[in-house]
Amino acid sequence: MSVAAETDEILRIDALEIAFPGRRRDQVIKAVDKVGFSVRKGETFGVIGESGSGKSTLGRCIVCLVPPTGGSLLHFGRDPFALNAAELRKHRRSFQIIFQDPNAALDPRMTILDSVREPLDVAGIGTSEERRRRALAMLDRVALTPELARRFPHEISGGQKQRANIARALVLEPTLIVCDEVVAALDVSIQADMLNLFADLQREFALTYVFISHDLRVVAHVSDRVAVMYFGKIVELGPADALMATPLHPYTQALLSAEPEPMPAHLRNKQRTILKGEIPSPLAPPSGCRFHTRCPLAVAECSQREPEWREIAPGRRVACHFANPPAPNRASLHA
Ligand SMILES: Nc1ncnc2c1ncn2[C@@H]1O[C@H](COP(=O)(O)OP(=O)(O)OP(=O)(O)O)[C@@H](O)[C@H]1O
Ligand code: SF4
Ligand SMILES: [Mg+2]
Repeated sequence: MSVAAETDEILRIDALEIAFPGRRRDQVIKAVDKVGFSVRKGETFGVIGESGSGKSTLGRCIVCLVPPTGGSLLHFGRDPFALNAAELRKHRRSFQIIFQDPNAALDPRMTILDSVREPLDVAGIGTSEERRRRALAMLDRVALTPELARRFPHEISGGQKQRANIARALVLEPTLIVCDEVVAALDVSIQADMLNLFADLQREFALTYVFISHDLRVVAHVSDRVAVMYFGKIVELGPADALMATPLHPYTQALLSAEPEPMPAHLRNKQRTILKGEIPSPLAPPSGCRFHTRCPLAVAECSQREPEWREIAPGRRVACHFANPPAPNRASLHA
């Protein structure tokens, strides 16, 4: 039995790098820079960070839409990028992604039913009638009626389209789904319903999620563990409850303190840290700790030396020279 099977580890990422060429020939954009973590079966692994921090690039790599330029990514202990084209197509059925834009995966010229059965058609699974029935059953499971299934994307609401996208991702019975800002484009009034649907489906189909969002409330609500990304790097990783109660990295603390009212009072810092400045240019990452240009606690050393990625308490990792282990009854170690 492999190590992955023994530990139920579906995804393992080590020192992963994903770089893109910039506009000029000598420019490189490192969207993801030496990131590492693993995801267990049945877990919801949250990824939080501001715009441009590399969340979507990481998510796309996890489902093999973008190849790594360094480090490694393993599915069930095996490198999917080593598979040939036909093997990879088959393998990718198990690793699906749902995007923020409900229109992204729906062809405007196809009915909702046809869009949901299309992955089955491409994979050549079952007879035509079986594929139709399977697509209708999945649409029913996400509360879309046969009448709605006959419509085209422009004839249904954004929430209904996102339900169709979920059905389309589920119809191939995946193991892991990357949910990239899946509720961000939806009206706040239906976001909770949608998150509940994701939770129900996870139980029913034993799904594993990588749940990406810039909204800390959404991520904390659904995730077992959370990774906080800043500028291509993970700066903190830990169980969602612990990370929310005692954020250890100044960036996580700033994100939490900036959360508006819906965050329960006991989870909010008394003193709000307002982050100074914009995220730096991806073409010129700051030296040392990348957060030093915006960190309220930065000292000279921070711009000279990159912080170690250290396990500071069981299950809790952080990249800051000055972070301390969480102490009981303290809302913030740096406060
Ligand atoms: N195909 C690409 N070519 C060049 N640069 C890219 C490409 N895709 C992403 N990038 C760059 O990589 C960095 C990370 O982008 P990414 O979309 O992963 O961030 P994100 O955290 O998902 O942001 P958002 O919250 O806005 O969705 C950005 O600087 C972006 O411009
Ligand atoms: S290493 Fe320095 S700049 Fe980076 S987060 Fe810690 S205190 Fe802030
Ligand atoms: Mg994104």
